[in-house]
Amino acid sequence: MKLADIFFQMKNDMQYIEKELARSISTKDVVLYKTSSHLLKAGGKRIRPVFVLLGGKFGQYDREQLKHVAVALELIHMATLVHDDVIDDAETRRGQQTVKSKWDNRLAMYTGDYILAEALLTITSLPIPRVHQVLSRSIMLMTLGEIEQIRDFHRWDQSLRNYLKRIRRKTALLIAISCQLGAIAAGAPEKYIRALYNYGYNVGMAFQITDDILDFTGDEKTLGKPAGSDLRQGNITLPALYCLQHEDTAMPLKEMMENVVDADGNTRIHLPDNRAQDAIQIIRGSKGLSYAQSLAERYIERALEWLEELPEGQPRSSLREIAHFIGRRQF
Ligand code: IPE
Ligand code: IPE
Ligand code: MG
Ligand code: MG
Ligand code: MG
Repeated sequence: MKLADIFFQMKNDMQYIEKELARSISTKDVVLYKTSSHLLKAGGKRIRPVFVLLGGKFGQYDREQLKHVAVALELIHMATLVHDDVIDDAETRRGQQTVKSKWDNRLAMYTGDYILAEALLTITSLPIPRVHQVLSRSIMLMTLGEIEQIRDFHRWDQSLRNYLKRIRRKTALLIAISCQLGAIAAGAPEKYIRALYNYGYNVGMAFQITDDILDFTGDEKTLGKPAGSDLRQGNITLPALYCLQHEDTAMPLKEMMENVVDADGNTRIHLPDNRAQDAIQIIRGSKGLSYAQSLAERYIERALEWLEELPEGQPRSSLREIAHFIGRRQF
């Protein structure tokens, strides 16, 4: 089975979710409508709503119930993207200008808050306290993940553990709960809920590691967002971390990353362009990328192991196929 087949089987329901997504942000405020629909119309993989619907297949699949979860999860994701592009100073997203670049930072902050509030409003349609607990805890931890990342900027002595904790919070958690909440909303057995959460967590870890690899290897055209920007802004991701911890590449990299201070002695937000270029070249030519790829693959293997806990059938095959896709994704 191919990813396109999965999407084909889910086409009707995903089109329905798409309509509901558009409806959820149809505010009367002209400016907020423009900013939020700009990001929605730009597309995106919609992987989180897909996970919600697939999770729902392990219980009583009811599209009318699941739509609230699917819409809320994509909206939360969108809100984090709008804010993330402010933090990361990114010019493009989903092949379009970012909200912060087309409008400004202030509007991007409002837009992210507005979309998040719509997500919370949407989920109130489900009278299941556990859904709300899981969701609010995850939003809180995601925020911590993004803040930890800012705190860890330029810290080239950070540990692998530190990196993994950060990506668990900022990315893996939302993917884990997309699978989990779909199953909870559908009243699936506890054993399946647990397996889906763990599948999603492992797939989510692989997803961010792959995203971090693509930042070094991808190009803006296929990614729809700038490449090479993590290191430039001091965000030490796995390929860079590997190089910093291995003798042959550690010294030159540290030299490039050290003393990145302005006249007041404050750490700069961005590496100077020439230094960033050199550092990116070192990482591209190193074993850091294949190391990161093998770690991503290990997470995918673990995700697949958790699938063994689920009953055989179409939904499980789809989850398996998506996991394989994420392990080798190019966009
Ligand atoms: C981007 O997520 C942010 C990360 C967690 C790496 P996606 O790659 O799912 O973004 P879209 O929704 O497809 O644009
Ligand atoms: C994504 O991290 C994490 C979020 C919570 C948005 P990135 O900063 O790597 O995401 P992209 O590469 O901009 O999509
Ligand atoms: Mg970011
Ligand atoms: Mg970013
Ligand atoms: Mg990225």
